[in-house]
Amino acid sequence: MIAFSVNGEPREVTVAPEVPLLWVLRDHLGLTGTKYGCGIAQCGACIVHLDGQPVYACVTPVGSVAGRQVVSIEGLGAGRIGAALQQAWIAEQVPQCGYCQSGQLMAAAALLTNHPQPTDEQVVAALDRVLCRCGTYNRVRRAVHRVARPPTKQA
Ligand code: FES
Ligand code: FES
Repeated sequence: MIAFSVNGEPREVTVAPEVPLLWVLRDHLGLTGTKYGCGIAQCGACIVHLDGQPVYACVTPVGSVAGRQVVSIEGLGAGRIGAALQQAWIAEQVPQCGYCQSGQLMAAAALLTNHPQPTDEQVVAALDRVLCRCGTYNRVRRAVHRVARPPTKQA
């Protein structure tokens, strides 16, 4: 049995330790907001937070998260930055098909946690790890800056 925290709740699963965290979240815990895109750490659709840092759940063995804190897109809104990002996403009408947006939001939240006032270069670099076939990149950038800056200073 492997025990860890998901979105602040203690969870236990009985699976082989090499099973990717992505499949444990989706198939064992019913948290399907985290998406499968490539399975090889290339697209970012599966990004979750592990002890506050963004990781690709598709290549993270669940055995490696034992005793640690996982936050998925379902828990993002519980935090101040996550809730602000959700509002900014709505204000900027960011999503198109939506498939990459879980990863985009999780990557953005990690960026703003580590860099509350990121430069545009830092925003681009942090979000470069999430592919969007719909091309929402400019709206993602605007939404991140909307949260990073006081409203009166927005362009
Ligand atoms: S599914 Fe994990 S990076 Fe693409
Ligand atoms: S919104 Fe469609 S892939 Fe990003």
